[in-house]
Amino acid sequence: MVQLTLPKNSRIRVGKTWPRPEGATNLRRFNIYRWDPETGENPRLDTYWIDLDKCGPMVLDALIKIKNEIDPTLTFRRSCREGICGSCTMNIDGGNHLACIYGINEVKGDVNIYPLPHMPVVKDLIPDLTHFYAQHAAVHPYLITETPAPGKEWRQSIEDRKKLDGLYECILCAACSTSCPSYWWNADRFMGPAALLHAYRWITDSRDEATGERLDELEDPFKVYRCHTIMNCTNTCPKGLNPAKAIAEIKHLMVDRLV
Ligand code: SF4
Ligand code: FES
Repeated sequence: MVQLTLPKNSRIRVGKTWPRPEGATNLRRFNIYRWDPETGENPRLDTYWIDLDKCGPMVLDALIKIKNEIDPTLTFRRSCREGICGSCTMNIDGGNHLACIYGINEVKGDVNIYPLPHMPVVKDLIPDLTHFYAQHAAVHPYLITETPAPGKEWRQSIEDRKKLDGLYECILCAACSTSCPSYWWNADRFMGPAALLHAYRWITDSRDEATGERLDELEDPFKVYRCHTIMNCTNTCPKGLNPAKAIAEIKHLMVDRLV
């Protein structure tokens, strides 16, 4: 097995290598980013050996096994274990994935795990998503109407309801926004693919009566137009959604208003 090495000028250092489990024949090496704000030390990569014959098939299974059986200090988020809550997103083998539905065997060789790229880190694999959630809140992700509420419900035709497919399923995992170079460099002003997908979800909802105001708020050189259709967002979305298309639709609507 090749010795773990890092680039010469890397601020991440090689950390602790935990012992291999005795008698295991189906071993896999996991190199995991560790950072503890309480020590103030530079981040490190710790190495753990997992016996795949005694571990579930997903990357999250390995992380839980490490935490339960090897190193209880390893810190990560997870909840549903079904690809629904969006809390276990991390960078695995160079791409952003939900650890609970990403198979260990989808990675060839070492499994390298880092927190989501270009986000402040709270600890180990936990990114600080405060700004990401604030951007979601800023697009008013709820129905806005002026018409007095009908007695029972806001009705929608089957055709109009279908327009929300591919939009409402977003679980706010942040895999898309944190894979986007425009978001890496301009997250303070570019809303990012996830927030814009949600913005479009409400813009396109036939029951919503604030389309003009929603587009007005997004009319800005950075909020939408920093999207350069790089497509990382769509390629990485673990729910198979297409934030790049939603952003393109917003741009079309903005142009349509001008003609
Ligand atoms: S669009 Fe996809 S990748 Fe982006 S936050 Fe929603 S579910 Fe996650
Ligand atoms: S634990 Fe909920 S999406 Fe992975």
